[in-house]
Amino acid sequence: MINMYSDIIEIAKRRGIFWPSFSIYGGFSGFYDYGPLGTLLKDNIIKIWKESYLNDDAVFVDTPNLTPEPVFKASGHIARFSDMAAECKNCKSKFKFETILVYNNVNKMPKNIDEAVELAKEFKLKCPVCDSLIDNVYNFNLMFKTENNDLYLRPETAQGIFVNFKLLYNYNRNKLPLIGGQIGKGFRNEIAPRQSLIRLKEFNQCEIEAFFDPDNLYFKDLYEYKKINLKPNDGNEYYITVKEAAERDIISNKAFAYFVLKTQYILENIGMNNERLRFRQHSPDERAHYAADSWDAEALIDNDWFEIVGIANRTDFDLKTHDENSNESMKIKIDNREIIPYVIEPSYGIDRIILALLSQSYYERNNKFKVLKLNYNIAPYHIAVFPLMRKDELKAQALKLYNAMKKVDKYIYYDETGSIGKRYARQDEIGTPYCITVDYRTMEDNTVTVRYRDTMEQRRMEIDEILSENGFKNL
Ligand code: GAP
Repeated sequence: MINMYSDIIEIAKRRGIFWPSFSIYGGFSGFYDYGPLGTLLKDNIIKIWKESYLNDDAVFVDTPNLTPEPVFKASGHIARFSDMAAECKNCKSKFKFETILVYNNVNKMPKNIDEAVELAKEFKLKCPVCDSLIDNVYNFNLMFKTENNDLYLRPETAQGIFVNFKLLYNYNRNKLPLIGGQIGKGFRNEIAPRQSLIRLKEFNQCEIEAFFDPDNLYFKDLYEYKKINLKPNDGNEYYITVKEAAERDIISNKAFAYFVLKTQYILENIGMNNERLRFRQHSPDERAHYAADSWDAEALIDNDWFEIVGIANRTDFDLKTHDENSNESMKIKIDNREIIPYVIEPSYGIDRIILALLSQSYYERNNKFKVLKLNYNIAPYHIAVFPLMRKDELKAQALKLYNAMKKVDKYIYYDETGSIGKRYARQDEIGTPYCITVDYRTMEDNTVTVRYRDTMEQRRMEIDEILSENGFKNL
C-alpha cells in the first residue's frame, strides 16, 4: 500500500523538487522553496501557460508585490478579504472556522461573522486540539501589511493589471477584448497553512484578466474537446464537453466558457488526468466579494478535490471601483457608448498545479521503484545520458554525445555514478522520459541504447538519427 502524499513529499525533498523553507531555523509553516528540479518544473509549466495565452494575443505586465493601501481600499480587499477564524482561549490554537465546524460535525456554513458567533454558542463548539469551548470567533484579514507605512503585500496579482487598464488599453490600440496577464507572487496570511504547496503564505500565480465590452461577451468560438466532469451549483453533475455545457446554458456566458475550455486544455497539455480533473461552480455564499460567478478547476490529490484554478466573472467590479476612487477614468468609448469593461479572470495557482501533477504522475513499479510519469514538455530533464561504465573511452564518448545534445536542448542530464540500474531508477524518480547509454558497441557502430521510462523498453538507435534535424523527435 503506497502513501502517495508522504511519498511525494519525501521524493520532493530528497531529489530537490521542493522542501520547507528556512528549515535550518526550525521551519516556518506556509513557506516552501523549489529546489533545482522544482525550479525547472515550475518554469516549464509557466512557459506553457504563457505561450498558450500569447496564442490568444495576451499582453503581460510585471507590477510590484507591495501595493499602497488606496488600491486595496478601493478593491474591497481591506474590508472583505478575510476568513472567519476562531482562536481557542485555552491553548491559543487558531483555526479557520470551517475546520472547527468539521471537527464538531456541524453541517452548517454561516453567511457572516454574527452567524458564526451564534453557531459557536448554539453547538458549544470545541477546540480540535484541547477540546475546550471556542468562544473567540472573528474575521481575519488575509493580507500582510508593512509595519511603518501603508503598504500591503498583494494577495492576488490581478490588481496590478486592473490599475493599469487604461495604459494597456492604449497599448492594445484601444481594442477589446483585451487579454492582460501577469505571472508573480501572491501573499496571504493563511490562518492554517497546510499540506505543503496547497496553502502557502507566499505562492505563485499566473493570472489573466480578459476585458470585454459588456454588450459583446464573445471571444472565440468554442471547439469540440474531451468530455469532463462539471458540477454546477444546482446539485447536478454532468460528464459532457464544455462546448455542450455552453450550448445547454450550464455555463451561461460564452466568453466565460471559452476560458473554462482553455483551462481544461492547458491543464491536460501539461499532464493533468482528465478523469481526475473537474470544474465546480461556487455557490453564491462561497464566491469572492468581486465575483458574480465562479467555477473552480479542481484536481484530485490522493482522495480529495482541491481548487487549482479559479475562474471568475468579475464583471465591472474592479474597474468601476478604481474609476470611482483613483485619478483615472476607467470608462472607454465604443461606438459612442461609454462603457466600463467586464472582466473574466482565469487565475492559476502554480504550486497547487505542481502538487496535483506530481501526485497524479506518481506510481510504484513492482512495489519498489518510484516513478514520476511527467509529460515530456514539463519534465525537469528530457533526456539523461550515461556511459555504461566509468571507463575513460566510454565517458569520453558519452560526454561528446551529451555536449552535442545540449546544443539542441539544454534539458539534458549527464550521470556516470552507480550501476546502470540505479541510474535508470534515479531518472524514473524525477520523471526523465528517456535515458541513453553509451557502451562498447557504440565505439563500433555509433549506436546507443535508448531506454523508455514508461515501458522500460530498450532499443538501439544510431547517434546520427538522434542528433538529426528533427531534434529528438525520433526517440
Ligand atoms: N485573482 C483571483 C484569485 O486570486 P483565488 O481563487 O483566490 O483567486 C487563485 O486564487 C488560485 O491561486 C487558486 O486556484 C489556487 O490555486 C491559488 N492559491 C490561492 N491561495 C493560495 C495559497 N494560500 N497557497 C497556494 N495557492 C493558492
